[in-house]
Amino acid sequence: MNVSMRKRVINNMNLIFASQNKGKTKEIKSLFNGTGIEIYSLSDLGNDIDVPETGETFEENAFIKAKAIYDIYDVPVIADDSGLAIEQLDGRPGVYSARYSGENCTYEDNNKKVISELENLPEPHLAKFISHAVFYDGTKKIDCVGELPGKIILDIRGTEGFGYDPIFIPDGFDKTISELTFEEKNNMSHRKISFTQLKEKLLEYLNSL
Ligand code: IMP
Repeated sequence: MNVSMRKRVINNMNLIFASQNKGKTKEIKSLFNGTGIEIYSLSDLGNDIDVPETGETFEENAFIKAKAIYDIYDVPVIADDSGLAIEQLDGRPGVYSARYSGENCTYEDNNKKVISELENLPEPHLAKFISHAVFYDGTKKIDCVGELPGKIILDIRGTEGFGYDPIFIPDGFDKTISELTFEEKNNMSHRKISFTQLKEKLLEYLNSL
């Protein structure tokens, strides 16, 4: 895509969010709400592709996803790779967060596995969520990172959110993310941090074209 074409597509403010994750998609659409930027998820496009995450870091995986979807649609893409890093588990589940207890596992399976690995270890079980957000338009790559520190509890609490939210208490709170509202999570999450930076850098890039 040449520069003027790129500018037109981005100025039309259509971006694809390269994810099949409904929880993340809801968060990202809400973050871009009011910016004039229209976010299309893969399911909006009727695409059920599952891009294999073959990278060894969040950053590599985010770019692998963004590039795979860009190569299909030739439209600017945003993507993130995110997960949970637990100090006492040397950073696990890390890039394996989605499939920590095996292929096709549920969020509950993963939460139970984490709880069983931590239950004989001393509290607090310090952890952080990490999100690497990427923009890619075939030429330009923008990469931003966001982190949300907190601790894991050995109990599954609350109904909001997804993934490890029901066992994670963010610093400064006494509730799990699943006991907070969608808005409360979306105001402070690792994705909020990484994608807010990404939005700002994207606007700078647009101005420079
Ligand atoms: P990804 O779709 O490959 O980035 O995998 C992300 C996985 O990390 C999810 O399936 C969740 O298990 C976990 N994860 C990422 N972000 C969050 C979050 O905000 N809350 C809870 N779990 C998360």
